[in-house]
Amino acid sequence: MAFPSQVNPPQIGLREASLVDPDARRAVAGTLAVPVLPAEPADAGDESGTPVLGPGTAVVLDLLTEHGITGDDVFAVLESAGARGAAGEVTVLPLHRGVVEEVLLVGVGALAPADLRKAGAAIARRTRDREAVATSLPALADPEGFRALVDGLILGSFGFHWRSEGPEHRPVGRVVLTDVPDEAAYVDLLGRATAVSGAGWYSRMLALMPSNVKNPQWLADQAAEVAARTGLDLEVWDETRLRAEGFGGIAGVGQASDSPPRLIRLGYTPAGAGATSDLPHVVLVGKGITFDTGGLSIKPAEAMATMKRDMTGGGVVLAVLSALADLGCPVRVTGLIAAAENSISGSALRPGDVITHYGGRTSEVTNTDAEGRLVMADALAYAAAELAPTVLVDVATLTGAMKVALGQRTGGMFANDDALADQLRAAGEVAGEVLWRLPLAQEYAELLDSPTADADNAPGGPGAITAALFLEPFAAGLPWAHLDIASVGDSPVDAFEWTSGATGFGARLLLRWLEDAEIG
Ligand code: BES
Ligand code: MN
Ligand code: ZN
Repeated sequence: MAFPSQVNPPQIGLREASLVDPDARRAVAGTLAVPVLPAEPADAGDESGTPVLGPGTAVVLDLLTEHGITGDDVFAVLESAGARGAAGEVTVLPLHRGVVEEVLLVGVGALAPADLRKAGAAIARRTRDREAVATSLPALADPEGFRALVDGLILGSFGFHWRSEGPEHRPVGRVVLTDVPDEAAYVDLLGRATAVSGAGWYSRMLALMPSNVKNPQWLADQAAEVAARTGLDLEVWDETRLRAEGFGGIAGVGQASDSPPRLIRLGYTPAGAGATSDLPHVVLVGKGITFDTGGLSIKPAEAMATMKRDMTGGGVVLAVLSALADLGCPVRVTGLIAAAENSISGSALRPGDVITHYGGRTSEVTNTDAEGRLVMADALAYAAAELAPTVLVDVATLTGAMKVALGQRTGGMFANDDALADQLRAAGEVAGEVLWRLPLAQEYAELLDSPTADADNAPGGPGAITAALFLEPFAAGLPWAHLDIASVGDSPVDAFEWTSGATGFGARLLLRWLEDAEIG
């Protein structure tokens, strides 16, 4: 099914010079955004805590004298707005059309990457539907801060629509980043930043796609488009082949749906390296449940309402694979997407059914709503047995228990390898997708015992932990991390780079890890 064309991220350009063209005495764009820093610590005793205008402001003030506006006027506006220079705070300087249409005074907080990401996203939100904005914030950013600024500008612009008359809003058309310290060096940084943010954008779009369009074959079609565009290797298993080759989890979970299951494999090899080279090989496995009704253990309506995004892990894997070539990722990466619709019909899995996974392990299905682990188990077992991975990482909206534990701004991580866990945690920190590690607590392993099969798929107990323990044997002792993004996969509100609804969480952090990690 066709879906309406979506909005595009803004075009982003670089400029070593500042916001104003000195010869023409003209602003670079109709809207200018200048930084506002919190009061100096030395002034902390000063009750007013007057914030400080940052780089790029002088040339703008100069231009504003043509509007009869002075520096004192600007401070008066900041003061009446109660502006403090907090990250992402925006104060608008009201102007009557003239040499500049609008000046935004943008708080940059402590200038940490997270602050600049917020500031970038705030600029993007405030300038949607505009033609262009120019900002001197790069003057204050180190390379990591610069990347975060771009990330915020792009993801803060994100939109998804299905309106007959077109989108309600469009991202600002063009962003000019001025006062860039070194244009030649920053062109590369900008390319990296847009590749990572673009993957975040893509995984968010995939997660938001309604399930009357997004079924397992649709995901396979997306993978085929990505593979053709970026030169990835692609293989897709259909339902017949899945059954024949022993993928009992994926075949079983998908057996009730009119849209049959697929296993999708995407392969990336660094330019110049052979597929059989001895480079490290990372295998990423994503949960691709294109809709989760719960199956016969059916979900109540409220719990089912957001389940179109239960393929977020699979979308993350697809988005990551789509950006590796642009980042020049130095290691081999395989992405596996276990795609199925967990539906109901006369052929649905029943509670009490026993399924046999790839490689022979069995599971007793005591709850058909614990379907994610069933499909992930097959894909992990296949990866471990056939792909000779150096490292395995899986991403899944696996358990509602994550929301209770970590809320909707932090992803959960389990790992059997401390170095891998540390790398992923650090990558999440720089990418703006924060992970918190939880224990693979063997104390609860006995909860998984089944009277009939190797394991019970819904053993209760601490739900996120027992789900991770269920998956652990399928990784066959290889270095493995499991990202449970169930609740961080959905944002309750628009806030900075987050837009309400599906977040596509995980693509940016995995790319940051793959871009420069020492793997293996
Ligand atoms: N897709 C859900 C997990 C989920 C819940 C994702 C809320 C996003 C938001 C998963 O398939 C599921 O239903 N898990 C059950 C497992 C239980 C039956 C053992 C859960 O967490 O309730
Ligand atoms: Mn479920
Ligand atoms: Zn699910």
